[in-house]
Amino acid sequence: MHKNRFTRIGFILAAAGSAVGLGNIWKFPYIAGENGGGVFVLVYLATVLFIGMSIFIGEVLLGSYAHKDAVTTFETHSPSKKKYWKFSGFTFLTGVFILSFYAVVVGWIFNYVVVAATALPANVQEAESVFMSLLQKDVWTQIFYYTLAFIVIAYTISRGVKKGIEKLNNILMPTLIIILAVLLIYSVQLDGFTQALSFMFSPNIDKFKSGSIIVAVGHAFFTLSIGMVTILTYAASLDKGVNIVKASLTIVIMDTLIAIVAGLIIFSILFSAGQEPGKGAGLVFITLPAVFYEMGSIGTVLAIAFFVALAFAAVTSAVSVLEPTVMYLVERRGMKRKKATYSVSVIFYIIGIFTLLSNTTAFSSLLTFGGKNLFDWFDFISAAILMPIGGIIVAVFVGYIMDQKVAREALVPYIGENLYKVWLFIMRVVAPIAVLLVMLNEMGVISF
Ligand code: PFF
Repeated sequence: MHKNRFTRIGFILAAAGSAVGLGNIWKFPYIAGENGGGVFVLVYLATVLFIGMSIFIGEVLLGSYAHKDAVTTFETHSPSKKKYWKFSGFTFLTGVFILSFYAVVVGWIFNYVVVAATALPANVQEAESVFMSLLQKDVWTQIFYYTLAFIVIAYTISRGVKKGIEKLNNILMPTLIIILAVLLIYSVQLDGFTQALSFMFSPNIDKFKSGSIIVAVGHAFFTLSIGMVTILTYAASLDKGVNIVKASLTIVIMDTLIAIVAGLIIFSILFSAGQEPGKGAGLVFITLPAVFYEMGSIGTVLAIAFFVALAFAAVTSAVSVLEPTVMYLVERRGMKRKKATYSVSVIFYIIGIFTLLSNTTAFSSLLTFGGKNLFDWFDFISAAILMPIGGIIVAVFVGYIMDQKVAREALVPYIGENLYKVWLFIMRVVAPIAVLLVMLNEMGVISF
């Protein structure tokens, strides 16, 4: 075995660690809430299972075949026009957009572990003022936790694939799963559980807004970490001989289950306390803490468990956003891993500070354009535009450009000829066209 490569289980946990993150526990419940629940969840599940999983397999396939950084991968495996294809590898720069708002939220979560342990707000009004003052006024508190988050992320990456990424995920992912399982068992017994089930699974067409589809598709990419060569880069550190379909399926199922479980936990707790979903991004940071408070001492325990789980999920994802850029600098630019990590981190860190400031009262007007502040722009641009485009690139590259024997030989032994053809059809036709149509519709170029 290559010394700086993942074991099979190490890869599964690390890729699942990347996929399972804020997207599952923080974002999914509130966007499902805002977009009416049921129908949204169905569109999202369909996109994840068909388009998302196919592209996910594509990234794992390409990465584990090439064993190189993303730029070299696209350059080496395109039969012609190498100097253009190599730019596909630079989709890792989407990471700048993601990490600069993602790490800010990791900072809030670190802060909320402390809030949960020391002083939960007594009601929704108080919770709102605690959260809003963190965001808008307590700039230094925010910067402190944000910095802490960045140090953890950068330190992990600086230690490399085995001693950093694999080790972190081997500890945090199983712990996360245990915490969520316990919270689920607790939620099932709550009055609000059936309401949570029906909210998430009974389709209510009326509430599905125009624009909900792009949110669902964007989220499918975001939640699986595809479309910015993260999964490709992790797979580049995977040894040969692993059943990549089984590994991909395991990861996608884990990711989907955890999103659903997180939704059920959050909505059960919410409904049991007579609260409504659909309150936007504040769901986890405003409504939940107040509800935890009302539950008394068990609430405090639940709150700590919940925010620790959220922190674990988020850190393992944030780490994966940095790795593609660092691997590129190490492999293509010959930089030492530590130096590469710290240089990239400093740049990402500074950009993130602007994102952080865009929520503050003092700087928000400076950092708001076209009705969205920098934080919301980075979220929207990365999830709804850049990641889908990155996904289309992977689909087209694997489906048409690279040697077709590679995919056939890697997949047919595991899934057979027929399923291979279905997969290829999704990569070649369904994924690019569907994602393109959705994006054009959203931009107002076409309308359906
Ligand atoms: N998949 C992560 C989540 O759902 O929170 C977010 C993410 C991580 C997106 C890594 C992209 C990425 F490369």
